[in-house]
Amino acid sequence: MSGYHVAVIPGDGVGTEVATEAVRVLEAAADRFGFDLETTSFDWGCDRFLEVGAMMPDDGLSTLSDFDAIFLGSIGDATKVPDDVSLTLLLDIRRGFDQYVNLRPIRLYPGVPTPIATATPETVDMVVVRENTEGEYARLGGFFKKGTPDAFALQTGIFTQKGCERVMRYSFDLARSRASLTDDGKAGRVTNCTKSNALNYSMVFWDRVFDQVANDYPDVETDMTLVDAMTMWLVKNPDSFDVVVASNLFGDIITDLGSMLQGGMGLAAGGNIDPERRYPSLFEPIHGSAPKYTGQERVNPVASIEAVRMLLDHLGEADAADAVGRAVAEVLAEGEVRTADLGGSNRTSEVGMAIASRIG
Ligand code: IPM
Ligand code: MN
Repeated sequence: MSGYHVAVIPGDGVGTEVATEAVRVLEAAADRFGFDLETTSFDWGCDRFLEVGAMMPDDGLSTLSDFDAIFLGSIGDATKVPDDVSLTLLLDIRRGFDQYVNLRPIRLYPGVPTPIATATPETVDMVVVRENTEGEYARLGGFFKKGTPDAFALQTGIFTQKGCERVMRYSFDLARSRASLTDDGKAGRVTNCTKSNALNYSMVFWDRVFDQVANDYPDVETDMTLVDAMTMWLVKNPDSFDVVVASNLFGDIITDLGSMLQGGMGLAAGGNIDPERRYPSLFEPIHGSAPKYTGQERVNPVASIEAVRMLLDHLGEADAADAVGRAVAEVLAEGEVRTADLGGSNRTSEVGMAIASRIG
């Protein structure tokens, strides 16, 4: 019997409520599929910052490195700590553990309402692979001539050959594996999300690496779309996307749009993955901490439960992951137990329990 040790960081705001449901489902999956599971919770977040002046301990990363995977609820509460300070917790884990793939599946489950008229379960089935360690989020720059009329800020993007290449190879491999899964003869398609018409160094370089990598995957179709146009195409023709590879900032932006295709932020999950498995990977709902809803059990836990599905898949527990996906799909399709974002009146925990009971 294999066993896993999962670190849980509930974080701020509604993070605690959704983390409770994530753990509930994780435990149900462990019971049902017979693997040992131990979870350890860490109280890192804005309250800790107010008490001791740091979001996590100095040795936080080394503590986490002993775990098989990490679940994060959500981080940030601007009423307590400025977001650019609190979010370093998440960004430091992503970069410290070289989780260079931010994997964001975008799928519309049957029965889920979406504000986008073109979105149906048939048209919405794609994965955005967001570069997660460099690009526009390299956090390099500074404030200069502060307080003078000549004040300016400088923020530098970093695009390395290695950093671009590895996330693109991952995307092409993913396209191949998705194509063989559906077995419809397609080799899959990777769309390059770029902006090389205006960003004449970084994105021209990015495109060049994309073309180099594409040469090694002649069986995979490729496509290229400028990020501004992509927001339009995602709405107009969602079915034309399979795997999308995007830089850190562009991937961040288009996946918020993607969340609307899948029915809202309450359903969108992501994995921050080190494909080389040197470090634990981190799975999270992509929504924020919604401080104003804290403690109200109003927020949809499906995004977090989907993050658990991805976590199980990453650990190699494919049957358990599939069972979680099926349980989510059933509860959503029936439409009887749902939170306010989907027009229901159930509490966060009621949805979590409904899904967990389908697994057991
Ligand atoms: C996300 C979030 C984060 C990001 C923020 C909170 C720093 O928006 O995970 O998409 O931009 O990566
Ligand atoms: Mn985001």
